[in-house]
Amino acid sequence: MNKTIKIAIDGPGGAGKSTVAKAVAVRLGIDYIDTGAMYRALGLKMLRLDIPMEDTPQLRQLLRETEIDFRGKDILLDGENVTELIRTPQVSMAASACSAFPVVRETMVKAQQKMGADKSVIMDGRDICEVVFPDAEFKFFITADAEERARRRCKELQEKGNDAVYEQVLAEIKERDHNDATRAASPMRKAEDAELIDTTAMTIDETVEYICGKVRAKNL
Ligand code: DC
Repeated sequence: MNKTIKIAIDGPGGAGKSTVAKAVAVRLGIDYIDTGAMYRALGLKMLRLDIPMEDTPQLRQLLRETEIDFRGKDILLDGENVTELIRTPQVSMAASACSAFPVVRETMVKAQQKMGADKSVIMDGRDICEVVFPDAEFKFFITADAEERARRRCKELQEKGNDAVYEQVLAEIKERDHNDATRAASPMRKAEDAELIDTTAMTIDETVEYICGKVRAKNL
């Protein structure tokens, strides 16, 4: 690949975005940036410090004092590796809640644009196609039925040794979809120029292959 490219992926939680994006990044030899992990890290910090989920001067101060970085596959919150800690249902809800505040989004989007500047990246989230990289060469909206996403999430949680009750996971997925899609600031939605990929009946490999095929077809 000679010129730098941006691959933007949006979609709801549990649709397999990050698994797919990671694999595409390895295949194409480009960097992967998980923007959801950044909102999760901030959500974790707010939970830990017991900061109310409101746009307050305290939140603005917290944003100024918080450092979120990636080191390889790990995410660091003020230097602490929180890669595993941010994957709990409680942090998922906190991430969804704090991501609704414009001041939080502005801070994150700026950081994401900086991270992706001057190199080829694949980035996934909710607002990548329309806000973070509106000029991305490749844009996809990856989704799947809520029931299928809940089944996948349960399997993932169980594999990590966590208890998971399907009905509860499904209810959380639906609540988060609702929060993310109905917030005023950059609600989750498919960008007009993004291609919809419904992975309900697709394997990870098929989705990865599909995206890599699209990129190769345009870049070879
Ligand atoms: O992709 P994820 O499930 O790890 O994201 C966690 C939450 O962060 C999600 O519920 C909404 C928010 N988010 C966002 O608002 N914008 C992004 N680009 C990525 C995530």
